[in-house]
Amino acid sequence: MALSPPLYEGKAKILYPTADPDVLLAHFKDDATAFNAQKRGTIREKGEINCTLSSHLFQKLGEAGIPTHFLAQVAPQQMHVRRVTIIPLEVVVRNRAAGSLCRQTGLPLGLPLEPPLVEFYLKDDALGDPLLTPDRLQLLNLASPSHIAQMQALALQVNQWLSDFFKDCGILLVDFKLEFGLNRDDQMVVADEISPDTCRLWLKDETDPQKRILDKDRFRQDLGQVEEAYRQVLTRVLGQAAAG
Ligand code: TMP
Ligand code: ASP
Repeated sequence: MALSPPLYEGKAKILYPTADPDVLLAHFKDDATAFNAQKRGTIREKGEINCTLSSHLFQKLGEAGIPTHFLAQVAPQQMHVRRVTIIPLEVVVRNRAAGSLCRQTGLPLGLPLEPPLVEFYLKDDALGDPLLTPDRLQLLNLASPSHIAQMQALALQVNQWLSDFFKDCGILLVDFKLEFGLNRDDQMVVADEISPDTCRLWLKDETDPQKRILDKDRFRQDLGQVEEAYRQVLTRVLGQAAAG
């Protein structure tokens, strides 16, 4: 079937309209970027792996009562999603210190964070996705206080479910980023994707600080075996999804 011109092309996905105005087709690309697109490359089969992983995780989250934009995986690199208005905020949940948190605070890598940290960043590459203070979040008025409270609560619910699920896969969920959207009924739903591009995932039983990494940090830090790591996450998730 010929695709209509895209509605939107991002760094990792292209969104196309479908015959149903309430349904979009998300095509997951193999392109990889990091550091707000200053580093670019491709990760072989990433589109297929991330689409399949996100489909399974969204499906399971839905079954656990957490609303998402996901409708169905329709091809290896493609899913149908409900049309939503994306809120231009990135919501990061951290269970362990890593990445920008360590760089900006000096906290040691891997420090457990209890309760988990929930942070709001402005989704704007040109501005470098800055971390927002609560006052700046209010000032920008990109979401109402009640919508922000809903995002915070949903992010923590996703974290609880996802941490338990990954634990059963032998994987530690270090941190992750979510995006949210409002559907036509003004319901807040989890959108975008959940994949090794948007999560830090460490092998639970591996102590070597490089060998344990199963996520985009392998690409960011040029650690090699990026495809193998992504595929290992997929194999473990599909195995666990079938078992559970
Ligand atoms: P950070 O430590 O670089 O702030 O990243 C926290 C988490 O958010 C990590 O799992 C990677 C993810 N993330 C994205 O998905 N997109 C982004 O643009 C950034 C900066 C982080
Ligand atoms: N997602 C961002 C980018 O593609 C940042 C990152 O993941 O490091 O540039």
